[in-house]
Amino acid sequence: MGALDTIRVGIIGCGTNAINKHIKNLRPLKDVELVAFCDVNKQQAEEVKRLYGSSNAKAYTDYRKMLEDQSIDVIHIATHNRLHAELSIAAMEAGKHVMCEKPMAMSTLECRQMLDASERTGQKITIGYQYRFRTDLLYLHHLRREGALGRVYMAHSHFYSNSGGPGRGLFYRKEEQGGGPLIDLGSHALDATLWAMNNYNVKSVFGKTNHGLMEKEKRYDHIKEISVEDSGVAFINMEDGATIILGASWRLHLAQAGAPAVTLVGEDQGASCYGNMIINGVGNGEPWVKEIGQEEMSQALNLDPSESHACRQIKQWMTCIREDKAPLVTPEQAMKVSQVLEAIYQSAESGKLIEL
Ligand SMILES: NC(=O)c1ccc[n+]([C@@H]2O[C@H](COP(=O)([O-])OP(=O)(O)OC[C@H]3O[C@@H](n4cnc5c(N)ncnc54)[C@H](O)[C@@H]3O)[C@@H](O)[C@H]2O)c1
Repeated sequence: MGALDTIRVGIIGCGTNAINKHIKNLRPLKDVELVAFCDVNKQQAEEVKRLYGSSNAKAYTDYRKMLEDQSIDVIHIATHNRLHAELSIAAMEAGKHVMCEKPMAMSTLECRQMLDASERTGQKITIGYQYRFRTDLLYLHHLRREGALGRVYMAHSHFYSNSGGPGRGLFYRKEEQGGGPLIDLGSHALDATLWAMNNYNVKSVFGKTNHGLMEKEKRYDHIKEISVEDSGVAFINMEDGATIILGASWRLHLAQAGAPAVTLVGEDQGASCYGNMIINGVGNGEPWVKEIGQEEMSQALNLDPSESHACRQIKQWMTCIREDKAPLVTPEQAMKVSQVLEAIYQSAESGKLIEL
């Protein structure tokens, strides 16, 4: 692809996330065209094409037909999790680069097959872990990389919702999604934490899932079958002795819910991300706490504060394709997140510590 070429993008799965994240952030980009939309729901594919497509865009119900179009450079996949591996592999085999939604897939085996397909075809693949691009998480990564925290030996990582699940039917079925809030929201928190720590050497995990509140989700008429947890926690042991405590929920009687929060505890300082950043340590024998706001972090990292984290990820992804670079979210890292989550679910089912 020449430096001035337009990047032609196709979307598979034209639901909530495709519209609110992918299309929203791709459309304003210069030299990017949304040329193809595929959804098994024909009306949805047609409507999304009409609203957001380029003048000659096409709508499809069968992704195989869409992948035959040689002029498409990149495919964004935003279907439920069970299809992530199948669609990503087919797209790469058809010569397209892929941004696939998180989690990478439902099992480590599927992730490995996706990675193999990328290596075999030479096509890039990245996963939709956009929270890494949030200002405070970028700043946390920067602090750890600069050595400000000292050796990081503990992390708290959570993404708690206390108001209920997504309300879309397939999210409640383990065979379609791989699990509930742990794989849905916990995957974001875990991805951000492993990346901020720059430590992917997981030794073992102990997980526990809770199911008592899910009956309440049947407030939605279309949700008849629920086979996933309402919340879950895990204790993750790293090879170097560090530990991560991970939590995720759709429903939990906990006041402090919200977007992913990551705390890294180092031997020199601790740092917590809750939008702003709170750093703490001890100086002259006295504990101190300092809050760093958005403006200071944006300036330090040379970020445009008006850009959302999703916008930053999609812009970076387009630049990587144009300039043949590796995306910030690599498939190897995303595969580790899936592997840990798979082990957490195995541990929750068996009641045993699972070695990776
Ligand atoms: N990165 C994030 O923060 C974030 C946020 C929300 C959802 N997601 C992820 O995005 C994915 C989709 O979630 P959603 O909330 O948009 O779900 P959704 O149900 O709103 O949309 C999924 C769409 O995929 C379509 N679809 C199903 N099978 C298909 C097939 N074979 N071919 C083409 N289209 C097909 C459905 O008809 C539906 O329109 C999930 O993997 C989810 O984990 C990520």
